[in-house]
Amino acid sequence: MRTCLICCSHSLSVGAAAMARGGHVEGESIPAATGEAEDDDLASLPTREGWWTTFVLYHGCWLSSPTATSVSLVRAQFAPRHDDLLLATYPKCGTTWLKALSFAVANRSRHRVAGGDHPLLTSHPQDLVPFIELPYRHLHPLAALDALPSPRLLCTHMPPQLLPPRVAELGCRIVYLCREPKDVVVSMWHYMNKVGNGFFLDLDKAFELFVDGFSLFGPIWDHCLGYWKKSMEEPDTVLFLKYDDMMADPAGHVKKLADFLRVPFTDEEVGAGVVEEVVRLCSFEKLSRLPVNSSAVVDRIGGRPMNSAFFRKGKAGDWKNYLSEEMANKLDAVIEEKLKGSGLTF
Ligand code: A3P
Repeated sequence: MRTCLICCSHSLSVGAAAMARGGHVEGESIPAATGEAEDDDLASLPTREGWWTTFVLYHGCWLSSPTATSVSLVRAQFAPRHDDLLLATYPKCGTTWLKALSFAVANRSRHRVAGGDHPLLTSHPQDLVPFIELPYRHLHPLAALDALPSPRLLCTHMPPQLLPPRVAELGCRIVYLCREPKDVVVSMWHYMNKVGNGFFLDLDKAFELFVDGFSLFGPIWDHCLGYWKKSMEEPDTVLFLKYDDMMADPAGHVKKLADFLRVPFTDEEVGAGVVEEVVRLCSFEKLSRLPVNSSAVVDRIGGRPMNSAFFRKGKAGDWKNYLSEEMANKLDAVIEEKLKGSGLTF
């Protein structure tokens, strides 16, 4: 058994009490969809090797086999609510940061941001906002999400075409965070080699797979473009953010996030510096040094990846330390070609 290499497992919803801890595993074999999953014939999907386990191409998106089984079940059984707020990201684009910021902003009336007992001081951000599709829902029932009070703050790595159709029908609002793809591939490479239970890939090989559009929840350009288009069509429903922009102006983005979550900062809060307190509390420097994030591990079935694996450098442009000029040019060219005419640039 191998741990899922990308995501995290258990969580709290907005203001909810701690959910039962859960976990997810990468099975060595391709699990068949259970009878409860959507009627997708997962066994007949195209497959490809190269990462730590077999990936399948599911509705145009590369997923590990167990993730596809879970997503299939989620599409059939997850019951969205009209006031759900979804955080959507491509892996390694700053999910942990977005979860921390959103949790702090959404819950600030019950958890004072500067308070010494703020949940972010003792819980990993990944554990404060649950993923919809994780832990694997064929192993861990969706009932855990059903039990959360509204409004739920939920997270997903699913691209828009994989979201359960009711999400769009109900008009659930989505915050999407993307990142410069060159930083994503470097971050992903580090992460996978760190938590891969012996799985190791050279950067050159990981880069080639990524550039070929073959990465978990990839191709990354389809992921970004799908949400980008939705944000253009429905700006009140999808807030499209970029990691690099957030780094450049965190306070401005925290305000934007609060407006979108429909909990705007009052003049009093702004005057009292609450926006800056959120930025500080959720900063890489603050979070990465907390004992819960620097040394603790989270119980997961089949593995116990370090919480610290979600905190590496937290910088924009670190790719320059890893990718050759030729690699950078190659990925830039692919991204430019794929995003051509969309208005989205990195
Ligand atoms: P690096 O590997 O480039 O450092 P995800 O949360 O989607 O898995 O993304 C992980 C990336 O976000 C890592 O990038 C990690 O260091 C960075 N990150 C985690 N917490 C952060 C924070 N509070 N602020 C900025 N970046 C953060």
